[in-house]
Amino acid sequence: MRSHKCGELNEAHLDQEVDLCGWAHRRRDHGGVIFIDLRDREGLVQVVFDPDQPEAFHTAESVRSEYVLRVHGKVRRRPAGTENANMPTGAIEVFGTALEILNKAETPPFPVESEIEVNEETRLRFRYIDLRRPLMQQRMKMRRDIIRFLRNFLDHHGFYEIETPFLTKATPEGARDYLVPSRTHENAFFALPQSPQLYKQLLMISGMDRYYQVVRCFRDEDLRADRQPEFTQLDIETSFMNEEQITYLMEDMIRDLFGEVLDVALPQPFIRMTYAEAMRRYGSDKPDLRIPLELVDVADLMAGVEFKVFAGPAADPQGRVAALKLPKGCDLSRKELDDLAQFVAIYGAKGLAYIKVNDRSQGMDGLQSPILKFLPEDVVRAILDRTEAETGDLVFFGADKARVVNEAMGALRIKLGQDRGLVQPGWQPLWVTDFPMFEWDEKQQRWSALHHPFTAPKCSQEELVANPGQALSRAYDMVLNGTEIGGGSVRIFRTDMQSAVFDLLGIGEEEAQQKFGFLLTALKYGAPPHGGLAFGLDRLVMLMSGANSIREVMAFPKTQSAWCPLIDAPAQVTDAQLRELGIRLRKPNPETAEKA
Ligand code: AMO
Ligand code: AMP
Repeated sequence: MRSHKCGELNEAHLDQEVDLCGWAHRRRDHGGVIFIDLRDREGLVQVVFDPDQPEAFHTAESVRSEYVLRVHGKVRRRPAGTENANMPTGAIEVFGTALEILNKAETPPFPVESEIEVNEETRLRFRYIDLRRPLMQQRMKMRRDIIRFLRNFLDHHGFYEIETPFLTKATPEGARDYLVPSRTHENAFFALPQSPQLYKQLLMISGMDRYYQVVRCFRDEDLRADRQPEFTQLDIETSFMNEEQITYLMEDMIRDLFGEVLDVALPQPFIRMTYAEAMRRYGSDKPDLRIPLELVDVADLMAGVEFKVFAGPAADPQGRVAALKLPKGCDLSRKELDDLAQFVAIYGAKGLAYIKVNDRSQGMDGLQSPILKFLPEDVVRAILDRTEAETGDLVFFGADKARVVNEAMGALRIKLGQDRGLVQPGWQPLWVTDFPMFEWDEKQQRWSALHHPFTAPKCSQEELVANPGQALSRAYDMVLNGTEIGGGSVRIFRTDMQSAVFDLLGIGEEEAQQKFGFLLTALKYGAPPHGGLAFGLDRLVMLMSGANSIREVMAFPKTQSAWCPLIDAPAQVTDAQLRELGIRLRKPNPETAEKA
């Protein structure tokens, strides 16, 4: 139907006869001449119809926005003074000699323009129109470019792309499962995979050596800007490689990707930071290193003070007292400080103490703070020395259980960085390593795996069992500008170690056999040492395209309530379907339920 794409025409095509297909982006009538900006995936080109070509002109008069058109015409130079330097095709236009309306269109619910604000539900309901917007087309193109690059890289490095089942059994990645009832197996359910974790390990035991997959994962969890119920991983597993080799290969891949797609040179090598250091300095295991603010421990200075709010956590082995200096923070008003206290309260902080350093040279008289009266002068001086606070700076304090302080002060650090324009431009990737194997689940009174239960510890089995709370794992996360874009680990590859970990997690022998018996068996038949990781592809594309949510880089995302407004899913099913599946609803739906 066409000889060229609209957006690819330029002066090289002058005087050529072309056939174009696309959408009427805009139509303007100008003193007897009609201009139609014709749009396809590659961009826009201006088509001109004048009354000398009466048939085409007449048809052009009836064209409305988003009509689908086929144009025949000749490429010519735009008259001097009418060129459009903002358009790649702006030096030329097409003089239309024939015009066919392939399809009409109703007035779209919103204009097909990048810069227009439309509420998200409307955008998702009419996603096929939303995706026509040039910005969305660019994002889809970048997503394609990124995935293509990654596939090429991995193919080049000897990885096989292998598909793994969607209809499977629960894979513990910490979220709820999406369940699919089985018709052929009474009372049994498949679970959609939270990740292909166990299949990829089985593929290593199968001798596949290097595997990858661009794969959908399903997690029923609370949604946020960087979380969707189904999302795409670049999932990777390798045999006979240790964490150094895996992480260096993976950062090579990401560095090459940024060079190729964004023309950005990422640092070589990436920073490697232990989990402990990340928590200590940034209160987070995914620190945004673009923000030049750091937490500083002051518990040792506070241990002896009378002020219980600080002395308590300072003496508590589970506690933490941390300071965060905001350079030039003295200008924060009372109201702003109250708002910040409310902000940290979201994370469970019971208050947000601060000291304003109005004039360092004046000693205590130069300070302003609600806690000054509780602190001896030498302690205050030591704090200011340690935080290197100078005149004009403000120092915040958090004191509580370490978990609360880290979450609250870590979030405060990000907020101050953003609100005060302190976020440095550019890209700050790093690896976070040496995660604890387990964290203590207060509610359930048992250990839970920080990564997943198949992650190998750094220590021996004896040490692990003797001291699970101290054990570190061979896991690693790749963090970029404060977002965890990927994570993985070297895996357990011996049955006894795997059983010991299940045991520590409170998964008894019987349950372990029932849930993971296939893995425990497979590990006995010559499992190679193996490890890998998975990247959140949507998050990677989001960051690289500058979008602020992964929904902006997915063709058909769901809303925050895990609903698809476009096709209206999830939806009710008929009674007949339910009966076939052996399912009776607790609250039958009046519309679909058959009359009994
Ligand atoms: P993990 O659970 O860390 O590891 O997931 C890997 C990466 O997937 C992305 N991600 C998500 N993206 C969008 N929406 C979500 N709901 C979501 N959840 C996770 C993150 C994350 O870093 N099997 C292991 C990997 C391994 O050990 O090899 C796993 O799935 O970017
Ligand atoms: P209070 O004596 O409770 O009024 O607290 C005095 C100051 O300490 C106030 O500025 C509070 O915001 C602050 N504060 C109270 N609890 C904490 C805490 N756990 N961490 C940091 N600051 C706190």
